[in-house]
Amino acid sequence: MSKPRIIAIDGPAASGKTTLARRLAQALGYAFFDTGVLYRAVTWAALQKGEDLQDEARMTLLARTLDVELRITETGETLVWLQGRDATQELYSPQVDAWVSVVAAHPGVRQALKDVQRRLALQGHIVVVGRDIGTVIVPEADMKIYLDASLEERARRRYEEARRKGHSVTLEQVLKDMARRDALDASRATAPLRPAEDAYVLQTNGLSADEVFEKVMQWMRKKFPNSNKTPAPSATS
Ligand code: DC
Repeated sequence: MSKPRIIAIDGPAASGKTTLARRLAQALGYAFFDTGVLYRAVTWAALQKGEDLQDEARMTLLARTLDVELRITETGETLVWLQGRDATQELYSPQVDAWVSVVAAHPGVRQALKDVQRRLALQGHIVVVGRDIGTVIVPEADMKIYLDASLEERARRRYEEARRKGHSVTLEQVLKDMARRDALDASRATAPLRPAEDAYVLQTNGLSADEVFEKVMQWMRKKFPNSNKTPAPSATS
């Protein structure tokens, strides 16, 4: 085998998963699937309907019956179509941000969303990003990466990103919200956030996106000696 079939990337919010996944997908010519959009889609639909997001039975039913279509574009983005239209941008509203960890902690919701994630991942040639990809969704993934960084560093990255997008937030707010979401993601009974035993773990504190990418490519070249997109030139003339 010269390339991994499935690359699983897990880790907490703002640990650098999406940036790394995009770059790997581009370098290898793979699709990129961000599984967080599914939990966000259920949260979005529940908010639209004015449902009680703490009610596991209601949220599970919603997850099972959700009219959602995922489209992975040529450039590797995951677009989310809900009720017949592209709702991708709305999934990142502050309201969805505030509730999504609560919805994602319901075991019934996780079970309901498992099959669709597995089916997409098993198509192969894909980089799958989430919290439990290497441990629960596709434990058979042949390259697992777990990115981490301190709460302060991750909050600073999110804060800077929000400011760049013109949102008026304070660093304290972002830090507080992230700590709350971290605690929910890590303490939930089903599929809590943790690295798979066979994952490569990288602390990204102080590392640039380039450095993270290079480190992961090094690991990958070692594990899959021909993992470059471009074939080597033929030795014969
Ligand atoms: O990565 P994100 O911020 O889009 O994730 C949104 C929420 O969904 C976050 O609370 C973690 C949760 N999530 C999860 O529990 N499992 C996944 N595979 C992906 C996301």
